[in-house]
Amino acid sequence: MTPAGSLLAARDLRKAYGRTPALDGVDFSVHPGEVVAVMGPSGSGKSTLLHCLAGIVRPDSGTVHYDGHVLTAESDARRSALRRSDFGFVFQFGQLVPELTCLENVALPLRLNGVKRKAAETTAREWLARLEVDDVHGKRPGEVSGGQGQRVAVARALAGRPRVLFADEPTGALDSLNGERVMTLLTDAARDTRAAVVLVTHEPRVAAYADREVVVRDGTARELAGTA
Ligand SMILES: Nc1ncnc2c1ncn2[C@@H]1O[C@H](COP(=O)(O)OP(=O)(O)OP(=O)(O)O)[C@@H](O)[C@H]1O
Ligand SMILES: [Mg+2]
Repeated sequence: MTPAGSLLAARDLRKAYGRTPALDGVDFSVHPGEVVAVMGPSGSGKSTLLHCLAGIVRPDSGTVHYDGHVLTAESDARRSALRRSDFGFVFQFGQLVPELTCLENVALPLRLNGVKRKAAETTAREWLARLEVDDVHGKRPGEVSGGQGQRVAVARALAGRPRVLFADEPTGALDSLNGERVMTLLTDAARDTRAAVVLVTHEPRVAAYADREVVVRDGTARELAGTA
């Protein structure tokens, strides 16, 4: 069973690396169009939770439900296919393909989902404009600033219209001004497209963009009171 109206929900997730428990009974849910921040100190299990929710890591026990699927019961191939078609990802850095131009980077997930080159590039241009980086089309990731690269990464994650956007410290490598702008653009776009957002961050300033905050500590999660 999943909480009513939720798109993605986890129940009693447990995951240990050797003797280190990373998740020790975590419940989590997010609705379409909702931005949930996952907070907590370093090593508390935030990234592990994100990886389990996205079907990248299989928990030792517990379940993840996504849109009628029991993600934790699906095959690796099926989870990969769902990730490609339904999920978008933004990480702290290093996720752009260095050999491709920024435009090609944004178009890539669309191309992998079978969209023709021209249509993919048109969509990619629209998203680069929306993220206020329409001047970097022909440049490679190594030729743009950190803030520009991160906007390109956000454009790439959203261009495929994901139903869930997973962001792990998306502004961790940016100065505060760039970070705020990227968060505004990311959350506005996600709300517009009704994407659910799982936003991992240890910065309260970033979490402030969320509708709700969940704090992970010692492998368990609790709702932060008064943010709903
Ligand atoms: N692949 C792995 N192999 C072994 N231990 C791991 C692995 N990934 C995470 N851990 C351990 O699991 C625990 C939770 O790690 P996790 O990366 O989820 O924390 P986090 O909250 O994301 O931390 P940070 O804020 O530093 O990114 C830590 O004790 C970590 O050392
Ligand atoms: Mg982490």
